[in-house]
Amino acid sequence: MARIVITGGSGFLGTRLARVLLSAGELRLAGRGVETVSQVTLMDRVLPVADLAADPRVDVITGDLADAVGPGGDGRQALAEADVVFHLAAAVSAECEVDFDLGMRANLQATHTLLQACREAGRFPVLVFASSLAVFGRSDDHPLPAVIDDDTLPNPQSSYGIQKFICEQLLADFTRKGFLRARAVRLLTVCVRPGKPNAAASGFLSGIIREPLAGQRATCPVDPSTEVALVSPKKAIDALLCAATSSDEAWGGRTAVTLPALTMTVAEMVRALDRVAGPQASSLIDWVPDPDIARIVASWPARIRANRATRLGLAADDDFDSVIRMHISETGSAPTAVPPRY
Ligand SMILES: NC(=O)c1ccc[n+]([C@@H]2O[C@H](COP(=O)([O-])OP(=O)(O)OC[C@H]3O[C@@H](n4cnc5c(N)ncnc54)[C@H](O)[C@@H]3O)[C@@H](O)[C@H]2O)c1
Repeated sequence: MARIVITGGSGFLGTRLARVLLSAGELRLAGRGVETVSQVTLMDRVLPVADLAADPRVDVITGDLADAVGPGGDGRQALAEADVVFHLAAAVSAECEVDFDLGMRANLQATHTLLQACREAGRFPVLVFASSLAVFGRSDDHPLPAVIDDDTLPNPQSSYGIQKFICEQLLADFTRKGFLRARAVRLLTVCVRPGKPNAAASGFLSGIIREPLAGQRATCPVDPSTEVALVSPKKAIDALLCAATSSDEAWGGRTAVTLPALTMTVAEMVRALDRVAGPQASSLIDWVPDPDIARIVASWPARIRANRATRLGLAADDDFDSVIRMHISETGSAPTAVPPRY
């Protein structure tokens, strides 16, 4: 029987991950045999979607993560029984730039409290952490190579990236000390993100596809020539599951795994949109430069030689047209909703 905790379980990836785990009904946990998924505990500040809340295998713990897993918190019991913890709760990049204290509390202190709670429970769970490509960055004293690889030194250029990198290091040390088995996955910009826009600096990369598909205007704050590293929601979930299911030997060392990227310019993304949805789709994009967002996005690498992830069987999406089609079929977005250009 596999008991699973997902922090940030009501968010975009948490919801998707929970649905995948529950519909599979079983999990081969970190080199063990196949086990039935008996319980999925969703911890989040907000309630989960109705289909998850209604599943008898789902428990919901609502509130701030640090409170829920801190001493006396109502998430301690679920954590003490967990075989695997997917730690996805986080404040997003642009939020953390605007509110430094929020990022320190929600990303750094909450993660430390979570790790400490796992340690105190003594059950030695597998803990999968959603880190980010934002741990990398270019600065005058430390230019990025044209292609980053598994040996490229992180050099985060945002509070969010710094917090993710510190958490990677905390995970590595809790693992080294034998308190848990942590695996950090550096997700790329997950695109196309369904639903409402969020406060991530990368949020526009989904917005410029999602909103025109729904017949709505979107704003692009960066130059069309900007290169970005993308991963589809499906491939992102595949990577989190790979981290939970790989044996220690296959996973390798305690450092984080960077995912293979679909590397595109924003102009290429927009051309793919027009190919899939019709030539008028991109007329709904307003190009309004935002130097703050452009600076953060330009500091991230776009080209990745992801040898370790490839050895784990992870691969980039084949092309962006199929990613857009996947979004349309999953969300029911109708390209025909795009109004004609007069
Ligand atoms: N989506 C991406 O493009 C992307 C890229 C790189 C890394 N990541 C990381 O993946 C993880 C999941 O991303 P997502 O896109 O699903 O984010 P999301 O914002 O959709 O979901 C995060 C969830 O965490 C919850 N949360 C945040 N702070 C909390 C707190 N203190 N206590 C309890 N709940 C809290 C939020 O309510 C939200 O439901 C995050 O850690 C994010 O940093 C995402």
